[in-house]
Amino acid sequence: MVPTYLSFSKSFSFKCTKLSGSIYQAGFSKGKVGSSLKMSSLFTPFKFGGIGEIQNRIVLAPMTRCRASENGVPQEMVSKYYVQRASAGLLTSEGVHISPEAIGFLNCPGIFTQEQINGWKKVTSEVHDNGGKIVIQLWHQGRQSHSDFHNGELPVSASAIPVQGDQIYVQGGIKKPYETPRPLRLDEMPRIVSDYQNAARNAKEAGFDGVELHGANGYLLDQFMQSKSNTRLDFYGGSVENRFRLVGEVIEGVLQEWSPDQVGIRFSPNGVYGDMGSADNVETFS
Ligand SMILES: Cc1cc2nc3c(=O)[nH]c(=O)nc-3n(C[C@H](O)[C@H](O)[C@H](O)COP(=O)(O)O)c2cc1C
Repeated sequence: MVPTYLSFSKSFSFKCTKLSGSIYQAGFSKGKVGSSLKMSSLFTPFKFGGIGEIQNRIVLAPMTRCRASENGVPQEMVSKYYVQRASAGLLTSEGVHISPEAIGFLNCPGIFTQEQINGWKKVTSEVHDNGGKIVIQLWHQGRQSHSDFHNGELPVSASAIPVQGDQIYVQGGIKKPYETPRPLRLDEMPRIVSDYQNAARNAKEAGFDGVELHGANGYLLDQFMQSKSNTRLDFYGGSVENRFRLVGEVIEGVLQEWSPDQVGIRFSPNGVYGDMGSADNVETFS
């Protein structure tokens, strides 16, 4: 269950140094990933595991654009956005909701209805026609949501701990305070895993080249992994192993649909977005 690649938020800064003539050394100023890469190879093709050959080594970061319909269907301008960037080697999609329960932003796309799948089919085929590759970022917002999105039902999380110090946009573009989320029950865990698995299967039908799990930025999977938002006393809380149980099960579920060299996960070990940042982050993510 080892994913092919990891991506990190706000952990690295990119630095480019001239060595001699037209040779540049480019690398990340801290961290262990991709420590050095000759600039002369940045624009050359690369075989990226099961995703296949990408035309260069430039990757678009996932960015929520809120340009889908009210029903989470990607619109023409979503295709346009990705096609404009298809000359990068690999595009990561914006976060895409795996289920109605996963929603916490307005006008973000989903991948749980046939209409949404059909909308993404247009996006992926246009990206492919323009020489690009695109992986989908699967997203469940957990406590970064509001009962206004769920017919009055509270958003779900690992524990009954709300986001502090911020508010959330709801329908009508107004901001409301975050609510105390409802902790997911043990008997609901298989459903969460199967929502991710269904979304991963739908992503294949929609023509994506791979899957990135959104395990970063204080969303549901991060809420389970971090002690600041997870104080559960059952198999999904306490030790690091228990806190990572859900993400492990989700990876196993996604690997029923995709091969390991087409699956990745994003972490944000030192991020504070979404009221995150746990005292034991070093132990948790080392
Ligand atoms: C408007 C906006 C939307 C974003 N949406 C996502 C997202 O859907 N998924 C995600 O993993 N990161 C998202 N991010 C984080 C970016 O991928 C990126 O990590 C962040 O902008 C920091 O990059 P930088 O260090 O190059 O500025 C978003 C950032 C911004 C500014």
